[in-house]
Amino acid sequence: MSATPVLISGGTVVTAEGSFAADVLLAEGRIRDLGSGLNAEGADRVDASGLLVMPGFIDAHTHLDMPMGDLRTADDWATGTAAAAAGGTTTIVDMAIQQRGQSLEETVAAWETKATGKAIIDYGFHLVVTDATQAVLDELPRLPQLGVSSVKLFMAYVDTPLYSDDRTLFTVMQLAAQSGLLTLVHAENGQVIAELTAQALARGDTTPVWHALTRPPEAEAEAVGRAIRLAQLAGAPLLVVHISCADALKEVTRARHRGANVHGETCPQYVAFDVRDLERGAFEGAKYVCSPPLRDAAEQVALWRALQNGDIELFSSDHCPFNFETGKSLGRDDFSLIPNGIVGIEERASVLWTLGVRTGRITPERFVSAISTRQARLHGMLPQKGILAPGADADIVLWDPNREFEVTRGNRHGGVDHTPYEGMHMWGAPASVYIRGRRVFDGTDVIAGTRGQYVRRNAQPVKALDVSQT
Ligand code: URP
Ligand code: ZN
Ligand code: ZN
Repeated sequence: MSATPVLISGGTVVTAEGSFAADVLLAEGRIRDLGSGLNAEGADRVDASGLLVMPGFIDAHTHLDMPMGDLRTADDWATGTAAAAAGGTTTIVDMAIQQRGQSLEETVAAWETKATGKAIIDYGFHLVVTDATQAVLDELPRLPQLGVSSVKLFMAYVDTPLYSDDRTLFTVMQLAAQSGLLTLVHAENGQVIAELTAQALARGDTTPVWHALTRPPEAEAEAVGRAIRLAQLAGAPLLVVHISCADALKEVTRARHRGANVHGETCPQYVAFDVRDLERGAFEGAKYVCSPPLRDAAEQVALWRALQNGDIELFSSDHCPFNFETGKSLGRDDFSLIPNGIVGIEERASVLWTLGVRTGRITPERFVSAISTRQARLHGMLPQKGILAPGADADIVLWDPNREFEVTRGNRHGGVDHTPYEGMHMWGAPASVYIRGRRVFDGTDVIAGTRGQYVRRNAQPVKALDVSQT
């Protein structure tokens, strides 16, 4: 927390609901006031002329310091949160993955240990249930007491500890519903993908593009439809994460039209890249292996439409980085051994601005909604995070809409040995980032000294068809 109040003046405030000229006064870690002619005696003054003043960005889908078989994601909580801050993100919600035999409380404690002393931005955890024993099911209703408001299940990754069958999915959804928890699903038909993968490898089809060809849109759409029906049966609110294609999206849209409490998220990789990137030479395609996979470019039209009309509410990174040399390269002779996951925690907002706002596909207000306000709302962080209002945490991004830059590994702030966005020209970047009133990024460098805090998220029934942008 900054000891001296800060007055940000001369900027244009952009919220999920509108844009207007206003000054913002930060004091004691919170937003004290918004408007003009504020009493700011003794405050440090920050000139935000030409900048947009936005609530700190929230990325509720990250995988920091995550074990995956013998590997571990290439960003820990120090490098990952530094990269996040440099992209304007002031809060993340990371996937805390239960290990076999671990209780849910132990899982949260294990993730807290990873974050403590390293995180420079605020954070919460989703609880990824992988071992739903009776004891774990009995414990699930107590998650809200730990400040956890969501559980996550994987319908993909058969033959790994992550996979959940339909019975597990349904049982956890029922309990989650009773406990006010939001259920998140990775929706792909894992059984079908396992068979298609085996068939491809048997034919000698081993290159990275086969990762996508063995995980077709139908496998995603089927699982999304199934997850929605199970959630409806269980009376559970559902968030379908990382939607990649029109058919999967259609399942969400149709369900919302019949009143189902279903929400959607997509990620930068599905609008910035397509299946052709998996065919890059020198095994570079491996950098683009993530699940669901990159799709035909034509699929992006539907994703943009849904981002603008609100059928997709969230734009999160699903940052799940593996180094090229020591991770991705394990699959040189067999695409199924390429660790799944792509970089994006730092690039997320600039991708959405460059490809979404600058092109006129979405409004600046939608940008704020998808990247901050709606994230806070669905994930139980309102009114502390995601809004610019008196009393909210003073998490602020001063966004320079005209900052032009080329992404390159050299100007990244994380710990990964590559960026899939290498060479991409972008517009829009943070000129300054504040967390609870303290400056954490100055437009070039991450400023040491901030300590990220755990955000206790509120479990609550999530509203179904609320069409407001917040
Ligand atoms: O490829 C991906 N998305 N890896 C991260 C784990 C997940 O499925 O979210
Ligand atoms: Zn996933
Ligand atoms: Zn993920």
